[in-house]
Amino acid sequence: MDIGVLMIWLLPAMVYARVMREDAFDPEGVCRVYSQNGLLHFDCSDRGLSELPDQLNYKAQALILANNNFVSFPKQIEKFTELEILDLSGNRLSQALPSYLEDISSLKVLNLSNNNYDSWLYNDAKFNFKKLDLSKNKINKIENDAFANVMKLSFLDLSENRLYDIQPGIFSQASSLNTLILSRNYFSKVPKFESQSLRNLHLSNCQIMTLEQDSLAALNSLLVIDLSMNQLERIPDSLASATLQELDFSYNEIFELTDLTFSSLPHLAVLDLRGNEFKYVWSTSYFSSNPFLREVRLKGNRWCCEGFSVNLLLTYEFLTKEPSKIQDRQALICYTPSNVTQLSWQQAYIKTWHADITAVSSYTTMAVMIGIIIGIVLTSFVCRGIMYLNKINPPPPSEQALNGLVNRSQSEPVTRIPLREDEPPTYDEALLMPRLNSSFHSLPDFVDEEETLRRNRRRSRSIGDLIEPRPRLGDRRSIRRTLDLRN
Ligand SMILES: *[C@@H]1O[C@H](CO)[C@@H](O)[C@H](O)[C@H]1NC(C)=O
Ligand SMILES: *[C@@H]1O[C@H](CO)[C@@H](O)[C@H](O)[C@H]1NC(C)=O
Repeated sequence: MDIGVLMIWLLPAMVYARVMREDAFDPEGVCRVYSQNGLLHFDCSDRGLSELPDQLNYKAQALILANNNFVSFPKQIEKFTELEILDLSGNRLSQALPSYLEDISSLKVLNLSNNNYDSWLYNDAKFNFKKLDLSKNKINKIENDAFANVMKLSFLDLSENRLYDIQPGIFSQASSLNTLILSRNYFSKVPKFESQSLRNLHLSNCQIMTLEQDSLAALNSLLVIDLSMNQLERIPDSLASATLQELDFSYNEIFELTDLTFSSLPHLAVLDLRGNEFKYVWSTSYFSSNPFLREVRLKGNRWCCEGFSVNLLLTYEFLTKEPSKIQDRQALICYTPSNVTQLSWQQAYIKTWHADITAVSSYTTMAVMIGIIIGIVLTSFVCRGIMYLNKINPPPPSEQALNGLVNRSQSEPVTRIPLREDEPPTYDEALLMPRLNSSFHSLPDFVDEEETLRRNRRRSRSIGDLIEPRPRLGDRRSIRRTLDLRN
C-alpha cells in the first residue's frame, strides 16, 4: 500500500489515541487509558503497585497490571464488568483464582505469567476465559481436575514451570483446548494424557529422553508436536498418530531411522530433524507410508558420505525433486570423509561412485581413439592398394609427375600437372587437379578451336570435364604456358 494512503488511515487513529491518553488520565496519575486493537485499555503496568485506587475507569476492556507487586488479586477487578483482558503478569500471586472472575463473562485472556504459583488446583468456579498464561511460575503439581471447569479454554501456556509429569486425565474435560505449551519443564519422557481437542503440543526444551510408541495415542486431534531441544536418541518404531501432520525433532540426538519409524503417521507432512546426529544417508523406504510428506528440514547434521550406495542418490532425488521437500540444499552436505567434505550428496556420489564410471568412460575414449587410428591406417592401406592397382594398368607416371607428387605441398600444383593430350590423367594427377566449379561450356572463349576440339575428344572419354581447371584470370596464362611448352 502507498505510504501516503497508509498515513491517511493511521493519522486519525494516532490523534485519537493521543487525545484519549491525555484526557482520560486517572485522577491520581497512576494509570493510562488508551485504545488498542479496538479495546479500551486501563494500563497500570510498571508502577510498583500493591493495591489499586478506588476511582478507576471501570469501562475498560483490558486491565493491565503487569510488573507490579500484587500478592493477591486486587478486589476492584470485580467492578470491571466489561473486561476481556486481565494481565497480572510479573507480580507475586500464588492464590487460587477469585470466584468473581466467573461473573465477568466477557473475560477471554488471563495472564498470570511470571508469578509465584507452585501448584494449580481445582476450582469450583466455572471460568470463561479462552487463554490462560501460567508460564514462568514454579508449578510442579497440577490437580487432576484443575481444568475441569474451564470449558472454553483453548490456549494454555505452562512453559517454564517445574512440571516433571502430568496425570493422564488432566485435560480430558477441557474440551476446547487447542494449544498446550509445556516447554521448558522437567519432563524426562513425553507425558501421556488424553485430549479430544488438542491440536498443538509444545514440549521443547525439557530434558526428554523417552518417547514411547503410544505416547500420542490418546491425543485424537493432534496436528503439531514440538519436541525440539530435548535429548531423544531415537524415535520409537511405529510411533502412532492418525492425525499428526507436523513433527519437530530438531536439536535432539537422533542418529537413525528405520522403515518403521514413520510407518504409523499417515498424515505426516512436515518433519524437522535439524541438528541431530544423523550420519548415514537414509533410504527412501523410511517414508513409504507418508504420501503427504512435503517438507523435511535437515540442516546441521553431519552426514558421512563414505561407502555410498545408490540409496544416496535415490534419497537425494526423493528430497529435492520438484516440488522440493528441502528448502535449503546446503542441508544435504557431506561432513566426512575429508575428501568429500562440503560437497553435496550428489556431488560426493558422483565423485566417489562414478569415479569408476569416469574411468570406464576414459577407457571408452581411448578405445574410440585407437579405433580411429586403426581406421586411418587401414584406409590408407586400402588407398595405397587402389593406387597400386591403378599404377599397374596405365604406364607409370613420368619423373616429372613423381616430382609433382613429392613437391605438391610446396609448389603451385597447376603448373606441375603434366598434361598429356591423348590419355586420361592418372589417379594421382586427378587428385592434384583443381575442381571444376562450373560446366566446361561456360568457360570463357580464350581457348582456340583446336583446343576445344581436343577437349571435346577428351570429353568423349568422359574424364576431361571434371578435372579441367577452371581458368581464372591469373591462371589463364599459366595454363597457356604449360600448353605452349607441351606443344
Ligand atoms: C502475558 O504477559 C507476558 C509478559 O508481559 C507476555 O510476554 C505474554 O505474551 C502474555 N501472554 C499472553 C497470552 O498474552
Ligand atoms: C575418499 O576417501 C575414502 C577413504 O577415506 C576412499 O574410500 C574414497 O574412494 C575417496 N573418494 C574419493 C572420491 O577420492
